[in-house]
Amino acid sequence: PRILILGAPGAGKGTQSAKITDEFDVDHITTGDALRNNKEMDISELDTEYDTPGEYMDRGELVPDEVVNAIVDEALSQADGFVLDGYPRNVEQAEELEDMTDLDVVLSLEVGEEELVHRLTGRRMDPETGDIYHVEYNPPEDPDVEARLEQRDDDTEETVRERLSVFHENTEPVIEYYEGEGVLERVDGEQAPDAVWEDVKETIENAV
Ligand code: AP5
Ligand code: ZN
Repeated sequence: PRILILGAPGAGKGTQSAKITDEFDVDHITTGDALRNNKEMDISELDTEYDTPGEYMDRGELVPDEVVNAIVDEALSQADGFVLDGYPRNVEQAEELEDMTDLDVVLSLEVGEEELVHRLTGRRMDPETGDIYHVEYNPPEDPDVEARLEQRDDDTEETVRERLSVFHENTEPVIEYYEGEGVLERVDGEQAPDAVWEDVKETIENAV
């Protein structure tokens, strides 16, 4: 299946995408991870405000469309089934995506603002596996894993606030865009991870 997962920063896109890739045997295409692996890439020839993706990301701002569109276009051309996470983030990107591929299902994980801030400031990443944890909600069992956990550079309170405001301004219209097309499936993302997963799985199964 070709799955799009939308949601605010911290809504659980990465967490649910990991379960989707296991269950449905699809590629996880995530612009956030792709950009984090290329934070120092020189994009100055595009005449952008900053010279690298990292300078946008650490401020919580969107990386220029040109850079991100190319990443997604390339990844989609190599994928059969996929779950797309982190894109589109504005209506221009949604229009680009329409020219790149069809979608079987568009999910929106819905989570309130206070919970989002709590999730992001408590998130920790395993740099060796990329696995996502939370200091309270989902701590690792293995003490070796716990010892090597890192916080994402953009998970500071200040950058989190900026990311949420960018989400309201730029990405909520994307959710309305798919709502208007009649293809949006809203999922209550504020439940426990396994309960969210049950709803996500059922929604995908019903769509394909
Ligand atoms: P990106 O990496 O996409 O970040 P984001 O959208 O801010 O989303 P997150 O990864 O923070 O949250 P998530 O929804 O994946 O939540 P997670 O599962 O980790 O983008 C980063 C930056 O890259 C952007 O700011 C921008 O600069 C740039 N960028 C990326 N795409 C771009 C694009 N298309 N255009 C332009 N720029 C772009 O969960 C969060 C935490 O909550 C974890 O600790 C987890 O354990 C916990 N958790 C998850 N689910 C639950 C649950 N149900 N209950 C309790 N805790 C939970
Ligand atoms: Zn993520």
